[in-house]
Amino acid sequence: MSEASVPFTTNNAGVPVESDSDSLTAGPVGPILLHDHYLIEKMAQFNRERVPERVVHAKGAGAYGFFQVTQDVSRFTKADLFQPGKKTDMLARFSTVAGEQGSPDTWRDPRGFALKFYTEQGNYDLVGNNTPVFFVRDTIKFQDFIRSQKRRPDNGLRDNDMQWDFWTLSPESAHMVTWLMGDRGIPKSYRHMNGYGSHTYSWVNASGERFWVKYHFKTDQGVDFLTQAEADRLAGVDPDCHRRDLYESIENGQPPSWTLYVQVMPYAEAWDYRFNPFDLTKVWPHGDYPLHEVGRMTLNRNPDDYFIHIEQAAFEPANLVPGIGVSPDKMLLGRIFSYPDTHRYRIGPNYAQLPPNRPHVPVHSYAKDGPMRFDAARTERPYAPNSYGGPAAQPDLWGEPLGWDVQGKMVREAYPLHREDDDWGQAGTMVRQVLDDAARDRLVSNVSGHLLGGVSAPVLERALQYWRNIDKDLGDRIATKVNGQ
Ligand code: NDP
Ligand code: HEM
Repeated sequence: MSEASVPFTTNNAGVPVESDSDSLTAGPVGPILLHDHYLIEKMAQFNRERVPERVVHAKGAGAYGFFQVTQDVSRFTKADLFQPGKKTDMLARFSTVAGEQGSPDTWRDPRGFALKFYTEQGNYDLVGNNTPVFFVRDTIKFQDFIRSQKRRPDNGLRDNDMQWDFWTLSPESAHMVTWLMGDRGIPKSYRHMNGYGSHTYSWVNASGERFWVKYHFKTDQGVDFLTQAEADRLAGVDPDCHRRDLYESIENGQPPSWTLYVQVMPYAEAWDYRFNPFDLTKVWPHGDYPLHEVGRMTLNRNPDDYFIHIEQAAFEPANLVPGIGVSPDKMLLGRIFSYPDTHRYRIGPNYAQLPPNRPHVPVHSYAKDGPMRFDAARTERPYAPNSYGGPAAQPDLWGEPLGWDVQGKMVREAYPLHREDDDWGQAGTMVRQVLDDAARDRLVSNVSGHLLGGVSAPVLERALQYWRNIDKDLGDRIATKVNGQ
């Protein structure tokens, strides 16, 4: 840009400033004067540049795109975004879980797979991971789980002993830990991983028929991973490699895409299915419930401002649209509360007005005022009911309630409920039937390497038993390696 065309600097009120480089002083060596308003504005603004990072999933990357329906699934759901031929704008954010904003993209960790669909019925958010299962099955254990993966309060260090202590005392973690310690625990890039809704959700069709569903987004780039050694190297030389890879692939005209499939279970089959279908530590084997193709998601537009569009993006499993509902999964039900609560703290109570979070349809809500409100109150008489033409709820837009039948006294118990509910079985199936010899060798190497990273003797003892419970042979191999034989 030539000097002549450079715009003049203004302060935040649009007034031209006198200098970009010299503060106002009493004489060239005199003290700085308090009424140098522009200097004060610069310092004060700078001090407030950060919002708190996400309490989990702090490091990530994201992009805009669209979802295109390719197959007819209207017999399962009436949700507008899944109707034949429909194309819906969307935003995706991928992330690691335990690391902070500046942490390397290549740490072994699950990856977040958060999607926001700007549908004609309002925002639909599907906030999943690149794993079909999770470490715990009850919301009440989530906070403890996360603390065991983050930093110790005394020395501020991450601690393998803390991780294995929690995992081995929580055997329901076995399936997810097996997954995490395997190849998919460090994807080659965000483009090379699948995404899963993980929880069971409910769908209802136009006739009011209910189904349980699980979402599977399969990467069209192919699943690929980094070995521990490659990941360790990249953590040093290119810690933002996954953020860079997503940005550059879109910038270079190679938009990544994923094909969405769903597993569908008729409503009545849930109650005596061999596994608890609402247990987040379990999958539904494909042999029981095959995949149905739905459509394709393509990410083709980088945000023009990372902070505005990605840091301030606020995903929430509570954003559901007619045709889609929750399930008795106790993790999902807890998450319905947690996300809008954390957004009010992290970004502020009017986070829904911000560009990445604004629905692409008119909002007729009775919400008003609060810090940083910039939309005028959306209704003249801010109460319902009113006789001045204010919005009125229309239950018909939702149709049949998407609930389930409940009966019983209040309890704090849940497990096991179904014939094959146990903590080790599906993890063992993965080790024996899904992994090949080379993948099993890498699993042994990854686990033993991690266990040798400062795990105390009693916890180590429990960890070896934990792996033997998953698979006796695998556990023995890990023990041999850890014991240096
Ligand atoms: P299938 O043989 O039909 O499916 C096995 C699935 O395992 C594959 O479809 C693939 O999922 C996934 N997979 C392949 N390699 C790995 C790996 N290195 N790490 C993690 N997952 C991998 O068997 P079932 O459906 O009967 O499931 C058997 C076991 O497979 C389960 O106990 C579970 O551990 C695992 N699994 C099952 C999934 C499911 O939803 N049924 C999903 C993922 C894993 P994908 O096609 O999604 O890439
Ligand atoms: C982020 C809570 C389980 C996926 C978050 C955040 C909180 C949270 C507070 C930070 C959100 C923000 O600041 O924007 C919980 C609780 C859980 C739970 C209480 C269990 C009860 C899960 C599960 C998954 C998941 C099971 C995946 C299946 C994500 C993702 C993000 C996230 C992808 C990042 C969203 C983004 O990119 O902005 N979670 N979480 N969480 N969580 Fe969870």
